[in-house]
Formats: sequence, structure tokens, C-alpha cells
Amino acid sequence: MSAPHTARFTLDPAFTVGTVDPRLFGSFVEHLGRCVYTGIFEPDHPAADEDGLRTDVLELIRELGVTAIRYPGGNFVSNYRWEDGVGPVEDRPRRLDLAWKTTETNRFGTNEFVSFVRKVGGEAMMAVNLGTRGVAEALELQEYVNHPGGTELSDRRAAHGHPDPHGIRLWCLGNEMDGPWQTGHKTAEEYGRLAAETARAMRQMDKDVELVACGSSGSSMDTFASWEATVLEHCYDLVDHISLHSYYYEQEDDRDSFLASAVDTEAFIEKVVATCDHVGARLKSKKRINLSFDEWNIWYMGGPKAAPVPDQEWGEAPRLLEDNYTVTDAVVFGSLLIALLRHADRVRIACLAQLVNVIAPIMTEPGGPAWRQTTFFPFAAASRHGRGTVLDVRVDSPRHTTARYGEVDLLHATAVRDEESGGVTVFAVNRDRTAALPLEVALGGTGVSRVVEHEVLSDADPDASNTLADPERVVPHAGEGAGVADGVLRVTLEPMSWNVIRLA
Ligand code: AHR
Repeated sequence: MSAPHTARFTLDPAFTVGTVDPRLFGSFVEHLGRCVYTGIFEPDHPAADEDGLRTDVLELIRELGVTAIRYPGGNFVSNYRWEDGVGPVEDRPRRLDLAWKTTETNRFGTNEFVSFVRKVGGEAMMAVNLGTRGVAEALELQEYVNHPGGTELSDRRAAHGHPDPHGIRLWCLGNEMDGPWQTGHKTAEEYGRLAAETARAMRQMDKDVELVACGSSGSSMDTFASWEATVLEHCYDLVDHISLHSYYYEQEDDRDSFLASAVDTEAFIEKVVATCDHVGARLKSKKRINLSFDEWNIWYMGGPKAAPVPDQEWGEAPRLLEDNYTVTDAVVFGSLLIALLRHADRVRIACLAQLVNVIAPIMTEPGGPAWRQTTFFPFAAASRHGRGTVLDVRVDSPRHTTARYGEVDLLHATAVRDEESGGVTVFAVNRDRTAALPLEVALGGTGVSRVVEHEVLSDADPDASNTLADPERVVPHAGEGAGVADGVLRVTLEPMSWNVIRLA
């Protein structure tokens, strides 16, 4: 007999959501604050390599397991001239970055980014400026990076030390063009037409490019859903994905709602899927548009937990958006990863925003060390063990009431089956802040029969975090007591915890 306060679900390899696209574990490098400068790129650092990249940071990025890396923005891209960032460094101009009110030195640009991506084993996801620029400049960038040679632009790349084309396949058609804060902000009609024209032209150069149109910069935007519908009416047949962005943060005295943030993420995804399929039906198209959740994270944009903002404008690589994440943040973050995996059939790309220093899992000190934030651990575990087929998990869980989302399950979970080994990994979050949650998983025909590992992220202090002074204050620990008997996994999830249970 198990206690009534028990969460349960059944796994059956015949019931699946879909295959995980490795690009679900993507990230984002924007010219913002210290993400690039003194984050990944610091030529004077003792650990810098021949390209000025910090090898300590490269190692952490490999450990994190990021795949697609989006660049160079973000809001930054909407006033960016890519030509400024290529060629001899001494000739590169200093420019105003209107998005973040800083000075961009252009010491790091497209070619440096591609070298960086290669070193960490990722795939470049390049955004073009559709704010202050348009079709012509997007084509010029595409030709510069991808054409083999024999034209002015491709020969210019070779003269800049890169004779081989970069082969960038994945492109974002602008960034958050629905947002009034965006340089060159547009209406859905204006953007939809521009995205379609740009996509058509880029496909004339290379029919195999993979293109992402801008969706809404958040589900709370007034134009949400009508924006997606209008944009897709213009470019449905020309693009492959529509983007989603969302950020969460703990609002004062409402930790229970914060812990349930993924309820909102899942609803957002389902509404965008419905909108895409509505347009597809209206156009009588057999094609399916997928989702690129290319900015997601926790971000303290204001309030007592927000990172301090420098009082000077137009500085070079100032400390911006350097949020310090707690264990509570990491549990919510893990739940957001679960939400993405639970929709892996349609969310084919996702980018954690961002990678280093700026709302990031990795922090650095100029001239000093690099360390892992609390959110590093759920991402690394999900990227390592979340590859394969997502099984259809329908939980039967005790519930509680939250101010923002009403009644929610205390358990949030998914499971991924590795098709080669047959192993299954369960990812589970217990949203209950004070009580442990017993979990029973009927393993059905999965063939797994023993627990290989149970990794837990939780802490007696919900506000514990890693800092320069104490970089390993929070690390995952081994869970106790998980076991399989009679085809059922029984495990107790600690209060407010993120759990990775690997079964073989
Ligand atoms: O990731 C930080 C910013 O958030 C990006 O520049 C922008 O696209 C979004 O609003």
C-alpha cells in the first residue's frame, strides 16, 4: 500500500511525444554586457587561447552541453552592421549599441563567433538585422559567410583569413520585431512582408537554409497570437520555425506561483502550436511549422533581486543583467526544461538566454575564475541524458493552489528513452516547498529494471546560490532510497527539488 499523498505515472514505449532534436539544448550569445567581452572572449586572461577565447569558459560550455548557439542578438542585432565586426581588428569601428546603451568595439565579430562555436562543438544560429536593415544586407551576410569563393564578398571572407565557407544553415529573421522597444519595431503586416521577402531571397541563394520567423516576445504581449497568425499568413511556405521568448522571475511573497511557472510555458507553447496549425489549415498546407523557443530563462528584470544597473551609459562591456541564481531559481529552471521536453514534437530548437555572465549559467570574473551558477546543473543533466524519444507522461499528482495559476500538480515530470541503450531517464520536479513527494512510476514495457543514478538539486536554504566567494555552495547530491520492484520505480522527491533518475 502506498500513501495517498503519492504522485504516479505510467511509462510505455508505445506512447511517445516525439524525438528530441539536439538543438533543444541550444543557448544564446548576445553582444550585451559581459557575455562576449570578458565572458567568452578575453585575450589578456591567463587562460586565453590563440583566438582570445577563455579556455576555462570553453570547458564549462562543453560540460554544459549546449548545441545551437544564437548570435549576435537579441535586441543588439536590430541596429548591428555585420561588416563592422569582420576584417583587421585595428580597422573596426566603435559604434553605439542602441539596445543596451553601450559602446560596441567590434573586436569580436562573425568570424570569431564561428571559431568559438566550432571549439565548443555547437552549431551557429545567426540572426540578421531586420530592424534598421533589410533584404540586401541579409543576403550580403549570407554570401560573406557561406559562398565558397569567386565573388567580392566571399573573397573578402577569404582575405579575412577564412577561405572555407562557414556553412551556416540556421538563420533568425530579425529579433522580437513585435516589441515597441526594438530598434526598427514593425507591425505584424510590415514584418510579415519583410520576413517573407528576406526568406525568399535567402532561399534563392540556398534553398536549404533553415529559417526562423519572429513570433511574439512574450505571451503577455497585446498582439500575441494575432501577430503569429498575420506573420505566418505572409511567410508560411517560406520559413521553418516561428520563435517564442519567455522569461520568469519570483514575484515577492509568491514562491508557489513561481515554482509553477512551467504551467505558463506549456500553455504558451500549445497556443503557438494551435495558431501555426490554424494558419496551415487555412492555407490548405501540408507543411507544419515548428517552434524555436529561442529565448527562455529566469530573469529578474526589476525588484529587490534584480542585478544592479551601472549608472553610466555608453560604457564598454559593463556588468548588465548579471543575475545570481538561487536553488529555487534552479528548480523552476529545471521545470522549464521539462516543459520543453514535454513538447519536443514541435519545439525543435530552444536557446537558453544567455550563455555567460548575462542571465547565464556560467559566470566569470575579468582576469579571474569562471564558475557554475545553480541553473548550470539542470541544463547539463538534461542535455546529457535528455536525448532520444520523449515518452508520453500523464501524471496523477497531488495538487495545491497558487495565486497566479490556480490549482497545479505538485509533480512536474517527463521521461526520455535512449533508443540505443534502451535506458530511460525520468526528470521530475517537486513543487512542494515543505513536504517530500513520494513518486511511483509503472515501468510497463520499457524493459528497465534498476536505478543507475538519482541526482537531486535541493537545499535546506532555498536562497542558497553560487558566488565568486563561494562558487560551489550549491551542487547536486545523490538521492536516497530510489529502487525498482515488481516493475515499479519508487522514489521520494525531496521538498522543492529537481531530480534526474536514470534507469537501465
Ligand atoms: O536576452 C535578453 C534580451 O531579452 C534580448 O536581447 C531580447 O531579445 C529579449 O528581450
